[in-house]
Amino acid sequence: GLPNTYSEPIPIAVIGGTGISSLTHLSFTPVAVLNPQTPWGTPSSPITVLESPHSHTPIAFLSRHGLHHELSPSEVPNTANIAALRSLGVRTIVAFSAVGSLDEDIAPEHFVVPDQIIDRTKGIRESTFFSGGCVSHVGFADPFDDLLRRVIIDAAAGLKDVTIHSKGTVICMEGPAFSTRAESKMYQSWGGSVINMSVLPEAKLAREAEMAYAMVCMSTDYDCWKEDEKPVDVSIVMARMRKNGENAKLLVGEILKALADKDGEEIIMAKRYDGWARMGISTS
Ligand code: ADE
Repeated sequence: GLPNTYSEPIPIAVIGGTGISSLTHLSFTPVAVLNPQTPWGTPSSPITVLESPHSHTPIAFLSRHGLHHELSPSEVPNTANIAALRSLGVRTIVAFSAVGSLDEDIAPEHFVVPDQIIDRTKGIRESTFFSGGCVSHVGFADPFDDLLRRVIIDAAAGLKDVTIHSKGTVICMEGPAFSTRAESKMYQSWGGSVINMSVLPEAKLAREAEMAYAMVCMSTDYDCWKEDEKPVDVSIVMARMRKNGENAKLLVGEILKALADKDGEEIIMAKRYDGWARMGISTS
């Protein structure tokens, strides 16, 4: 048993997706396991607090699909996840997600740091903190934080086995079934680079909660538009993630080192997004 409390604000969080359910193995030491409750319920998993020998900045780690991958993308309690992280003091989120590629140049095992999103979730996910008499409209023209994207892209440059694409549009679909071939080709015609089921509403809620948010998309397949490839299925995604997972963990290490080196000030203190103060939630 690790303690279930941590006395200081935790400025940075990593949200792990399929294939990344912990950050152990890196030079990070788990020092606490927290189970914050929020007005929006319980997060996907306990939140592990990790410390690194490189910095005094603690990291919070949350597993989006639960500790045993028991939550489908439609079931992830996004509002609870973001509110829980914010209540711990988090101002910067580096999120990871397995994606399908809609672009020939984005091969399996390549990484993409997208700069745009197209929403194809059906509106069934609870996707705002601003309802029930609490009205606010955050800007979402640029859904990812550019400073944080830059830190990630620069960090990846130091890893020779990682190919990273420095922009792209991620299509977020509802699932859980994968797309049809006609849909896959339509998404290409819309300018989609990659497709997943997880970036929304997570990114939107992070913006509402005044947090800097960026995503590392890890390509696992060519979805189903490519005639000379087998259409995506779960076993293909899982097999690729076993390989991607190692690179992802190396990249997390580099990103966190870069944030610590810079002291992460501008990024960690992402106070340039408005709205959260209206929620009346106490935050660190
Ligand atoms: N996650 C990984 N591959 C995917 C795909 N092809 N479509 C949607 N989500 C995915």
